[in-house]
Amino acid sequence: MRMSPPPATSDRNRPWALAALPPLPAVALRLLELVSKEGTDLRDIVRMIESDPAFAVELLRAANSARFSFSEPVASLHQATLVLGLDFVKSLAITVALRVYVKNALKAPALARCWRHSLACALLSEELASASGVKPEPVYAAGLLHDVGRIGLLAAYPNEYSNMLGVSTEFGFDILCSEQDLFDIDHCQAGAWLAREWQLPEAIVRTAACHHQDVPEGTGTLSLVALGCRLADSLGYSVLPTHNTWAFEEICARLPMRVEERYHSNPNQLRKRISSRLESLM
Ligand SMILES: [Fe+2]
Ligand SMILES: [Fe+2]
Repeated sequence: MRMSPPPATSDRNRPWALAALPPLPAVALRLLELVSKEGTDLRDIVRMIESDPAFAVELLRAANSARFSFSEPVASLHQATLVLGLDFVKSLAITVALRVYVKNALKAPALARCWRHSLACALLSEELASASGVKPEPVYAAGLLHDVGRIGLLAAYPNEYSNMLGVSTEFGFDILCSEQDLFDIDHCQAGAWLAREWQLPEAIVRTAACHHQDVPEGTGTLSLVALGCRLADSLGYSVLPTHNTWAFEEICARLPMRVEERYHSNPNQLRKRISSRLESLM
């Protein structure tokens, strides 16, 4: 069933399906920007987090539940950055920023699955980036946000979007076409639109827009995240139960040579590693 657009909003260019979305909190927006940029100073990130006490508490909570077992709890942001390292704090900050955004809607099982898929994709893309000799944090950020259009549509229309997923899965409909039919926009277009509105780097906009197209060769952000997304599906972290997933071997064959060598015969080890990291971030 086609949704009827809500009354026009003041922003005439905004797709109607995204009109009901709450704005991203200022601290999250600023953090996304800082983390995606090359050479950001750690002090800027800590200052930004400290400017929002509720967010700082969330981050400390996440740091204490993270995969490290500390003898003493991590009590301050400064200590967290020292103990966990800048890269980890950056990834954690952007994850917490987005989780705070979707928190109220996470009760919807489809959104919880989508959030899990996004996290798994971010972790896998980050690993692929490190193994390819590419700076991992911007790739992690792009991986976390690749399905932000779907997260947005799910947060705004949890029941309608979940029903659409169920029907499309049952009858084998193409999800992007079903989204277009129902919302006049698919989640790739919606994600690119949101990433542009939030003034995120072009690599994130492009990844949100193109991650369902053919995977380009090489170790660019889009290639790594598109493979990370398919790896997440093949390891069992898909949004849909019968999503047309690629086989693990098929994905490995598309990886840059040195990455392929590392992963090739080890899907179980990879699954174990990702699952323990996921637990600390959910
Ligand atoms: Fe997607
Ligand atoms: Fe994905």
